[in-house]
Amino acid sequence: MIEKKIVGEKAVEFVKDGMTVGLGTGSTVYYTIIKLGQLMKEGLTIKGVPTSVETEKLAIECGIPLANIKEIDQIDVAIDGADEVDSQLNLMKGGGGALLREKIIARAAKKFIVVADPAKIVNHLGAFPLPIEVVPFGVEMTNEQIRLLGAETKIRYSNGNPYQSDNGNYIIDAKFPNILNPVTLEQKLNMIPGVVENGLFNQMANAVITLNAEKSVVIK
Ligand code: 5RP
Repeated sequence: MIEKKIVGEKAVEFVKDGMTVGLGTGSTVYYTIIKLGQLMKEGLTIKGVPTSVETEKLAIECGIPLANIKEIDQIDVAIDGADEVDSQLNLMKGGGGALLREKIIARAAKKFIVVADPAKIVNHLGAFPLPIEVVPFGVEMTNEQIRLLGAETKIRYSNGNPYQSDNGNYIIDAKFPNILNPVTLEQKLNMIPGVVENGLFNQMANAVITLNAEKSVVIK
């Protein structure tokens, strides 16, 4: 999709020589990573911190050296996609199942830049089911607690088995009618025993790169 390529590539402008860069997961930030690999061949020096096994493989293929997560004290910038972005720049993430590592890296970064094609821009979060990472133990009970908050829920499956995140956890996709208060919902979800993290990234994005109606790049 050309929109994903345009916004994905634009994000490299936030990356400067010598930076440690959080590398998100998905088909939009894919273009950022490919472009960073090209720029490295032209002399850029960076270290990457991948948010998933998939991104780790891609970064290695692109010749981006990986920082040792145990040794880094800061991430200069993290770049990642989103499933939805609201008017306050709150995000819904985790469609690709990488939300836990993505949130850890985004929180640790000095700047968090989001790349989002225009289809991701919404007034209110909630048309997309909210991904929630849960421990496998007692998943049906955790699922019921999430349902009691007003969601229709589904345990995510892949090839006939519960989908497992890179952390060995399951994902519950929770369709809430309309998420008018994402801050409260994020807190309520994370208080349920069994929930590891949820895909609401509230007040975290420093900038969102997208396209306007005329297909020009805009940075919100
Ligand atoms: C993965 C994510 C992705 O950033 C999100 O799903 C957007 O993906 P894409 O850029 O492929 O549309 O949160 O866990």
